[in-house]
Amino acid sequence: MATTRHFLTDLDLSPAEQREVLDLALEMKAEKYGFTPYAGPQTVAVFFDKTSTRTRVSFHAGIAELGGSPLIINSGESQLGHKESIPDSAKVLERMVSTIVWRTYAQSGLEEMAANSSVPVINALSDDYHPCQLLADLLTVREHKGELAGLTMSYLGDAANNMANSYLLAGVNAGMHVRIAGPEGYLPAESIVVAAQERAALTGGSVTITTDAAAALADADVIATDTWVSMGQEEEKEARLKLFTDYAVTSAALARAKDDAIVLHCLPAYRGYEIEAAVIDGPQSVVFDEAENRVHAQKAIMAWLMAASGLAASVREAK
Ligand code: CP
Repeated sequence: MATTRHFLTDLDLSPAEQREVLDLALEMKAEKYGFTPYAGPQTVAVFFDKTSTRTRVSFHAGIAELGGSPLIINSGESQLGHKESIPDSAKVLERMVSTIVWRTYAQSGLEEMAANSSVPVINALSDDYHPCQLLADLLTVREHKGELAGLTMSYLGDAANNMANSYLLAGVNAGMHVRIAGPEGYLPAESIVVAAQERAALTGGSVTITTDAAAALADADVIATDTWVSMGQEEEKEARLKLFTDYAVTSAALARAKDDAIVLHCLPAYRGYEIEAAVIDGPQSVVFDEAENRVHAQKAIMAWLMAASGLAASVREAK
């Protein structure tokens, strides 16, 4: 019997597997209704402990396009995590649904869910990682640049957040040279950097962690940023806006990158803060391709996990 595969961090896929999932996402984008591993329809439970537009809509649409039935459960609507333990919740859910998708706070909660679930568990954003977003981002870069390996991808801003961690891990997994720039005290944790360096050694990618925004931007192929005030940090807003000013993606910052560099932002964006309006609304921005690609990338990871776990006949067909 196949072992159940989960997608909790970017490194849960080997470099070859990540490439396979991105290839599949491109196929699914070209043939929107040709893959039905959730035919039945089988139900996929999608839990949200934090707000969402893209993740919610893209999972709903993607599950339906895969022949399944999405069950969206918002914070406070279920017993999960407050009236019922995560292990008990997993043991109930695995008898009713084919996949569990969860946007939550602690990564440990996702790990506990996966440890107790015989169906795949997918991280739809935690405080530490946003791996589904990175599949969409890498898909977008592939569409605009071709190969990922060898490209330089620079992330600026709050470099201690979930997006910075995921850019670092998913980027090196694809063989990219990833530069992460932020102020002292807001850089990735040592454990993330070490994991990224180990993966980079296998793929030919590299890791640069710096407080020097200009150095991070020099000749980059891809520039990325994220909000300076992540969900749950609203009370720190004023202090954080001052802290990250030197790391804004402005027209002047973009001019340091290659002339054909593209700009990513996972959205929602705050124009005039982490990104200038002229940049996000300008010709080098691919942020709406990136948003659309959430659907294609998530369809691919769901179908891939079902097939790899032996729960679907293939990425195309249910069992
Ligand atoms: N980028 C992203 O995850 O968007 P939502 O918070 O709207 O889901």
